[in-house]
Amino acid sequence: MSRMMKDSIQKKTIVGNWKMHTTSCDAKQLAKGIVDGLRNEEGVSIILCPPFPYLAVVGEILKDTRISLGAQNMYPEKEGAFTGEVSPTMLLDLGCKYVILGHSERRHKLGESDAFINEKVKVALAAGLDVILCVGETLAQRKANQTEALLDRQLGLGLANVKSAALSRISIAYEPVWAIGNADHHATPQQVEDAHAILRARFGQIFGKDAAAMVSIQYGGSVVPDDASALFSRPGVDGALIGGASLIANEFLAIARSAVAETQALSH
Ligand code: PGA
Repeated sequence: MSRMMKDSIQKKTIVGNWKMHTTSCDAKQLAKGIVDGLRNEEGVSIILCPPFPYLAVVGEILKDTRISLGAQNMYPEKEGAFTGEVSPTMLLDLGCKYVILGHSERRHKLGESDAFINEKVKVALAAGLDVILCVGETLAQRKANQTEALLDRQLGLGLANVKSAALSRISIAYEPVWAIGNADHHATPQQVEDAHAILRARFGQIFGKDAAAMVSIQYGGSVVPDDASALFSRPGVDGALIGGASLIANEFLAIARSAVAETQALSH
């Protein structure tokens, strides 16, 4: 399938990454606000990733809606003596369909290595969770012209030994570290398009052209409603992973609506 055909039919994916925000009361209100605010967003896949303690309450609210539940992390073991950790089995038990892995905050603040992330990716897929693998360069790496090498490395190592049967359950989030939670440092639509092209090409080297044409690549880094259309109209930008703006129901929904509008525009 050609890129143009793919662009015209692929649903965009909008992920709300709530990070370590909300109380149980806020989480319920936010999830309800998003569910109640939905209109005709069939043309977009929406995933909410609340903190672990609120997965169950948010999952209840999302039941029988078009919105899926995801987790922000997991430990790559089914069960055992891993104090404080959460297994893929537990996430599935709570109704999660997705898990975000390799987020830059976990790489840089909690020291997660590519090898550990790869372990998580394989275990998550084997358990039956769909994976959103985050990759992205720091500002220093971008300035040193290392963006391509870094993206190649994080994608290659993160997906090492992943079986091709699982490919349809993997999506990638391009999240340049310098643009996350940083209103002063937005990536331009061109920078996003270029990085997505690098990732898609690398994905193609590993898994073949057809898989590369199908893989969903989302962008994350201070996405707000005002910027969403410009991003979603770019070739190869298949959605967004949203932090800050996902904590405000109306902003999150406005971004989802931009995704629907741009998908419709691309199919005409
Ligand atoms: P942000 O977070 O939208 O607040 O920049 C995105 C992310 O880190 O997933």
